[in-house]
Amino acid sequence: MVQVTPFLLVLSLALVAPGLSARKCVLTGRWINDLGSNMTIGALNGKGEFSGSYHTAVSTTTNEIQISPLQGSQHRTNQKSQPTFGFTVNWSFSDSVTVFTGQCFVDQDGKEILKTMWLLRSHVDNIKDDWKATRVGINVFTRLRSQE
Ligand code: BTN
Repeated sequence: MVQVTPFLLVLSLALVAPGLSARKCVLTGRWINDLGSNMTIGALNGKGEFSGSYHTAVSTTTNEIQISPLQGSQHRTNQKSQPTFGFTVNWSFSDSVTVFTGQCFVDQDGKEILKTMWLLRSHVDNIKDDWKATRVGINVFTRLRSQE
């Protein structure tokens, strides 16, 4: 009986420990960023590709904002618990395109967070205006739960 207790302790640690260390960041779902923009990412296919929709809270134009499609992919090393990814938003209400790239992290509190950088390419009528056609920035996304 004296030897059984340490054995059970080691066994339970071996079973529980892997689960503790391997909280995975999953892209699929609804997200909100620091500007108040919302996006929904659908299920990933076998190649790590996904599609979804983006509802931006802000715009460089005066056009009425519309929900716009996004397409992207997660890096193929899907065993990784904090994967890198990229996606493109083809804006439905303007002539612009934004590309985002980033990494899906699990923070110290166990919360998923997407750290991204983006390039927003606006349309210009003249090549002379090319120099001012691309904006760059960062966005941080957190997961939106169903009641939020
Ligand atoms: C446009 O202005 O032509 C389209 C909308 C662009 C919205 C940008 S994309 C980068 C940044 N992050 C957001 O959530 N919205 C802005």
